[in-house]
Amino acid sequence: MSLPLPLPPLGLGTFKSSPGEVTSAVLHAVRSGYRLIDCAAGYQNETEVGAALATLISSNAIKRDELYVSSKLWQTHHAYGGDESRCEAALSATLSDLNLDYLDLLLIHWPFASEQLAVQTEDGTPEPFRLADGSLNPVFTVRTEYLATYRWLLSAKARGVVKAVGVSNFTIEQMEHLREEGLEAPAVNQVEHHPYLQQRALLSYCASRGIRVMAYSPLGSASGKKPAAHGCALLEHAVVLDVSKKLKKTAAQVLVKWALGKGVVPLPKSVSEERIRTNADVDGWELESADVAALDGLECGCRNFRSYAGEGWHGGERWVEKGDDRDLVQALVKGARVVCVGLEGVRDKYNGLVGTLLSAPGVSGGGGESRCLVELHDVPDKVLNVKTENLRAVAAVSDV
Ligand SMILES: NC(=O)c1ccc[n+]([C@@H]2O[C@H](COP(=O)([O-])OP(=O)(O)OC[C@H]3O[C@@H](n4cnc5c(N)ncnc54)[C@H](OP(=O)(O)O)[C@@H]3O)[C@@H](O)[C@H]2O)c1
Repeated sequence: MSLPLPLPPLGLGTFKSSPGEVTSAVLHAVRSGYRLIDCAAGYQNETEVGAALATLISSNAIKRDELYVSSKLWQTHHAYGGDESRCEAALSATLSDLNLDYLDLLLIHWPFASEQLAVQTEDGTPEPFRLADGSLNPVFTVRTEYLATYRWLLSAKARGVVKAVGVSNFTIEQMEHLREEGLEAPAVNQVEHHPYLQQRALLSYCASRGIRVMAYSPLGSASGKKPAAHGCALLEHAVVLDVSKKLKKTAAQVLVKWALGKGVVPLPKSVSEERIRTNADVDGWELESADVAALDGLECGCRNFRSYAGEGWHGGERWVEKGDDRDLVQALVKGARVVCVGLEGVRDKYNGLVGTLLSAPGVSGGGGESRCLVELHDVPDKVLNVKTENLRAVAAVSDV
């Protein structure tokens, strides 16, 4: 599927750009050449982004059709129980907040939905969707849902109120599910992508279907996890700093350039004028192939943003994202079968665990380097050191 406009090569991220900072960040970005602004209702700052867009368009600094504005439908406003009015209300609010009458791209932010639109405490304070540690706030009832919402997205596209539709944080299996349902491919899948988390299997799947990948957290994210494999945040890694020093470019420029070389659309976020300008100043020089190889070598599966491993996302299966051993073990505890896709890169680690399982009584399965199925039948508790009475559903660990 082709996009209605050529997708700009990179865009400005606006997550965690606070009201008071984000208006000037967007003004500065557009004035310094950015044409793609990545927004989301969930960032709770679309009104401030919209103030910048209104200023730019009304002052003729830029025409509306020269800008590419993406937004996302937050999981409190998916279709739920057949009610699509929630999606409609969310799109109306986003358009009004952004001062726009259409979006270039609307994404499903995450592949799960909450029953409640909002929950308030007794004193009227809105409950946050996620708790401080990133886990889901238990006051929300969530389940995996994206099919009805994706169909609604397509209807919004047919009406012209959004020019293209896409998804975010979708696994290969979830994109396949859309295909199996006969739905047109999303124009974009926006996923976390940087040298610590390269998502090679997912990128190659998207390339094979013409789905463009937008790379979020291309600098390793504001939260910038320090994976055990490297012990430092991505922007501080010696490989990144060495390339930066050698080429006399900033570490962020090196990472943006690396992402562009992978064919993805990076969305670096900044509220600093200097960083906004330099992050996008990546023309007229190249990374050497040895630099690319060194950056490629940083893959360690470090993921800053976690999804919800909901029930029944696809034919009764469950899934969790790739994480550490604990995630895998949790998936095993909850499910009777684990599907590991794309084991290259972490083969030794996961093959070790999978191998242990395969040699355990009651476990059968097999697989190759890039795909491995493990079936558990009455596995003794001591194998996983966890209780196994709930071995019913199917678990999948995707994109490892
Ligand atoms: N679809 C999703 O679920 C999802 C999830 C996360 C993010 N996103 C999108 O992707 C965008 C980018 O991801 P992100 O915000 O997580 O992380 P990011 O762009 O990788 O990193 C942003 C952090 O890097 C800092 N930074 C920016 N330029 C820098 C430079 N030149 N040198 C040093 N530090 C620099 C920023 O601080 P300053 O602002 O102070 O410069 C901020 O702390 C988001 O803003 C959002 O639009 C989407």
